[in-house]
Amino acid sequence: MKGRIYYFTGTGNSMRAARVIAQQLQNTDIISMRADPEKYPATDCDIVGFIYPVYHWTIPAPAAAFTEGLEINPNAYVFVIAMPSFICGIACERLAEILAGKGVQIDYGNLVHNVANYAIVYPPFPSAKIMVPAAERKLKKIAHDIASRKERMYPRASRFIKRRRERVMAPYLELQKYADYPFTINDNCISCGLCSRVCPCKNIVIEEGKPVFQHHCANCMACVVSCPKRAIGYNIKADDRKLLDASNARTFLVKIMGLPEKRRLYMNPYITVKDLTKERE
Ligand SMILES: Cc1cc2nc3c(=O)[nH]c(=O)nc-3n(C[C@H](O)[C@H](O)[C@H](O)COP(=O)(O)O)c2cc1C
Ligand code: SF4
Ligand code: SF4
Repeated sequence: MKGRIYYFTGTGNSMRAARVIAQQLQNTDIISMRADPEKYPATDCDIVGFIYPVYHWTIPAPAAAFTEGLEINPNAYVFVIAMPSFICGIACERLAEILAGKGVQIDYGNLVHNVANYAIVYPPFPSAKIMVPAAERKLKKIAHDIASRKERMYPRASRFIKRRRERVMAPYLELQKYADYPFTINDNCISCGLCSRVCPCKNIVIEEGKPVFQHHCANCMACVVSCPKRAIGYNIKADDRKLLDASNARTFLVKIMGLPEKRRLYMNPYITVKDLTKERE
């Protein structure tokens, strides 16, 4: 038996899930979706898993793009675990569509709720003290299900959520084009390059000792939570406002986006910044 789990993570929840399940399955490696999918196909795997957070009620764009480029054994047992804080939306359905285009079916799907990590909009909630142990319990159960090849329909959005999605999420999806424009770097930056190494989108290049954002950011929060000097801020300035207005991003949450220096940040307690840097190819 050979297993392979592909994961995308910003703040470690999905990496932790991939580790727990891989450990239960044995002979299973875990591959960050930051890698080139052509280098890590799943053509000779019997078990193939996909684990990722939910962004704006769907699968993160880089995880979708990675899966599009992946070759998979159509006879493998395939599972998906989405890691929302509250609303999963079409995160699993979207993966199912991409896989169906490759002649691959999902055999098992589930959700693990965890702390909401979108630090440039709000402090982490609900409390990690409650969410993390609950997530660990659910992960153990899911790992057991997968090890025994249980079948389970992947979670789907209700008709209500599907109807609301377009309207509620459109501004945020539009905003994605400008996701890294408002990032700021303050004088505390020590040019260590960690932000560049943890970025799952290869979106940060260090130039003359300072991070430069390359405009294909997923807003995953990895750089923000990993910076040892809290040098990364987020500030929608007047100029950026123009960009946001051009994208019709006028909802309340978009208006309050910003990162006060003292805001609490969340990172999964079982994952370290070093773990995130290891996923770099
Ligand atoms: C850009 C962004 C958008 C998000 N959108 C949603 C969402 O639509 N629904 C939800 O339940 N959680 C949402 N979240 C919260 C994350 O899905 C959740 O915290 C996840 O467990 C983080 O996983 P990670 O630690 O592997 O990055 C969002 C987080 C970010 C950064
Ligand atoms: S991680 Fe922080 S201190 Fe290090 S280079 Fe990036 S912004 Fe500067
Ligand atoms: S630049 Fe920062 S927020 Fe954007 S994808 Fe990279 S690590 Fe995530």
